[in-house]
Amino acid sequence: MNETPSKPAMSPVKVEAIDPLDSAVLDMPRQAPRFNVLSAIQNDQPHAPAIHPSVAHGKGIVEIKDFSLYYGPKKTVHSVSLSIPVGHVTALIGPSGCGKSTLLRSVNRLNDLVDGVRTTGDILVGGESVYAPGTDVIDLRRRVGMVFQKSNPFPMSIFDNVVYGLRIHGERRRSVLEEVCERSLRGAALWDEVKDRLQSSAMGLSGGQQQRLCIARAIAVEPQVLLMDEPCSALDPIATLKIEELILEISQKYTVLIVTHNMGQASRVSDYTAFMYLGRLVEYGPTSHIFQTPTLPETEQYITGKFG
Ligand SMILES: Nc1ncnc2c1ncn2[C@@H]1O[C@H](COP(=O)(O)OP(=O)(O)O)[C@@H](O)[C@H]1O
Ligand SMILES: [Mg+2]
Repeated sequence: MNETPSKPAMSPVKVEAIDPLDSAVLDMPRQAPRFNVLSAIQNDQPHAPAIHPSVAHGKGIVEIKDFSLYYGPKKTVHSVSLSIPVGHVTALIGPSGCGKSTLLRSVNRLNDLVDGVRTTGDILVGGESVYAPGTDVIDLRRRVGMVFQKSNPFPMSIFDNVVYGLRIHGERRRSVLEEVCERSLRGAALWDEVKDRLQSSAMGLSGGQQQRLCIARAIAVEPQVLLMDEPCSALDPIATLKIEELILEISQKYTVLIVTHNMGQASRVSDYTAFMYLGRLVEYGPTSHIFQTPTLPETEQYITGKFG
């Protein structure tokens, strides 16, 4: 909390040493009841998330249905239901450790790789269950691509990186691989920078280029959904801007679900925003609504940096 007494105080507000959440409320128009949702969550009581009518229809390309996840005994995602609209960018925001990455990784079952994980509820992608016993996880991960916080190019050529997924799925025709390579690199806004060195090692690219290469690799297999977990957090501002532009472009064709801790980024790149807190969904709706006229005072407090 900033106290800047440089200007004469017009109407002094008495701020005493109290809980930062309460003190943040002093800046707000009076609204009652205050922070009932966060209090309920902190006390592990049931709460009703604020869901905007435009995303309450349950017809999303990804349907998260009453989904919970435990790491061993620890419940980390609590009965989240979320409908992700097709062909848009949806951002997951919330304080560090609130379960954004865990929820994201649940969509293509990357958490399967963690010992002791248990889930309840289900997630549907394109109407198909992610957690049904018969689900083909390899095919699921082709349909739901992932771009990580830290770019992870494979130690091979740029070309081989981009067509890696196609080869895994049995494509051997050189002409097809070349065509997909060019299309994907163009789609990732990288083609002009690398077209003359496709056989060079991907490890020689800059950080921003490597991240765009990972995006090219992800879109090469034409996924239905692209998951991105803080894809710019290791990049400088210029490389970040390029990735943000790319996300906007990619969303013309793909559905993107992105985790970001950067409020500016969420407001710039996303169409819808979901605010999470302690493993729960707090509020979800169009990004303009969440950032300008959120339903809950706690959402406004978080967006404006009053806590988290
Ligand atoms: N592989 C794991 N095993 C056990 N606990 C984990 C694992 N990954 C994350 N967690 C815990 O789950 C909670 C949510 O983490 P995470 O999903 O990474 O949150 P966020 O992405 O919002 O920062 C944290 O308390 C974290 O310590
Ligand atoms: Mg995370």
